[in-house]
Amino acid sequence: MLLEIKDIHVHYGKIAALKGISVEVNEGEIVTLIGANGAGKTTTLKTISGLRGLTSGSIVFDGQDISKMPGHKRVMAGLGQAPEGRGIFPGMTVHDNLLMGAYTRSGDFGAELAEAYELFPRLAERRNQAAGTMSGGEQQMLAIGRALMAKPKVLLLDEPSMGLAPLLVQQIFDIIEEINRRGVTVLLVEQNAQQALKLAHRAYVLETGRVVKSAPAAQLLDDPDVQAAYLGGGLGHDAPAPGPAAAEPPAGEA
Ligand SMILES: Nc1ncnc2c1ncn2[C@@H]1O[C@H](COP(=O)(O)OP(=O)(O)OP(=O)(O)O)[C@@H](O)[C@H]1O
Ligand SMILES: [Mg+2]
Repeated sequence: MLLEIKDIHVHYGKIAALKGISVEVNEGEIVTLIGANGAGKTTTLKTISGLRGLTSGSIVFDGQDISKMPGHKRVMAGLGQAPEGRGIFPGMTVHDNLLMGAYTRSGDFGAELAEAYELFPRLAERRNQAAGTMSGGEQQMLAIGRALMAKPKVLLLDEPSMGLAPLLVQQIFDIIEEINRRGVTVLLVEQNAQQALKLAHRAYVLETGRVVKSAPAAQLLDDPDVQAAYLGGGLGHDAPAPGPAAAEPPAGEA
């Protein structure tokens, strides 16, 4: 297993955002976390990146317990990240933003630069443009391209489709699939559950800081509860029966 999140609890002040999340990611997989607003998806990724501390539990990456490792060392160890809201440097050019992505590395990264420009031709066209003046979708491409510059083993993606037009959403998902095909393991957080489940090998459903389901992604696409809660109903299959079953409150709320 490449990445193992074991029973992590995370608090913001006194508020428990994660109440015992366990997630496993195997080498070569695309794993997705889906769930409603506030379920704890971003917090889970931030905790893996080292931007949030753990109250308890552990994170093991590539055989090493990284629970207390500083964030930049996690990047060096091979955890790549494109954060929610993108986090690019707006005053710097596209090209310099990409170079910043390689800050943890030394030597020649011409091959990675060429690959980023190959995956995202739009970035190549705009390499001298200030990143802050790029469109939302272009900034998203830049955030992913920059994360790839660190040559990650795992890429953590938080809502890469957020705010994008449908055509661009499909393009971003296609590129994520291509990145995975080239050997990068992916942990993907998405509101766009249907597309995420189509792309991913396995998925976890988060509800108020807990994992309430985990299964092969294809199985969750056919799961009536998941369809009702996250896929806007029938998906072209038979519509799930209306009724109280789909509206259970989250279990074990203190
Ligand atoms: N900096 C913070 N301070 C206090 N509470 C926070 C903070 N960040 C997140 N939370 C709370 O933690 C919980 C989980 O938030 P998180 O951002 O992980 O959710 P999410 O699943 O990513 O949601 P979304 O789909 O809206 O992005 C929420 O209740 C949120 O209000
Ligand atoms: Mg979030």
